[in-house]
Amino acid sequence: MNFAVFASGRGTNLQAIIRAAKKGKISANLALVVSDNKEAYALKRAKRAKIKTIIVEAKNFNSREDYDAELVKILEQENIDFIVLAGFMRIITSVLINKFRNKILNIHPALLPSFKGTHAIVDAFNYGVKFTGVTVHFVDEKMDHGPIILQGLVKIKENETAETLEAQIHKIEHKIYPEAIRLFSEGKLKFEGRKVNKATT
Ligand code: GRF
Repeated sequence: MNFAVFASGRGTNLQAIIRAAKKGKISANLALVVSDNKEAYALKRAKRAKIKTIIVEAKNFNSREDYDAELVKILEQENIDFIVLAGFMRIITSVLINKFRNKILNIHPALLPSFKGTHAIVDAFNYGVKFTGVTVHFVDEKMDHGPIILQGLVKIKENETAETLEAQIHKIEHKIYPEAIRLFSEGKLKFEGRKVNKATT
């Protein structure tokens, strides 16, 4: 199985995935890194690991649908079986979702369905929750909504700051995202409605 990682920024999750693949913890082949941002540090990480990169800039397209149609074309050319979103800062449309139904994974830095959106870590911190965490889920048409694959829990300590919380969140992300990719690519996830269970056999 071939997969692509989509990233717009720093790419620490990409790095964790590369590391896990190198250690043999993910057997699927990370064949491609796609970015909408030519300055993304994630691209440097990919190049260092000798992974093919493609930049698709939004300014060259008239609509989100046109942009996603270009992504579909590329993914088909590269024989990509599934997609891993790792800090990809774009809303994706049904053009892409329909072609890769239940084959697009995303990671969100909160315990969904709480604290959706782009400021989840700070939102949870400011709300005063005692626990927050990380969610890996399949992508559907609604933002931060699809079936949940794995969640990791983070306890908010007495002297926590938004910065220390962010560090805790990323540490958990880097553990559970490679694990979710492993389970998915080995066919170990089974759907029961919108529930995703680990297969026992
Ligand atoms: C992560 O916090 C992830 O949960 C969110 O975007 C961030 C990406 O970080 N979707 P990085 O680029 O992988 O360091």
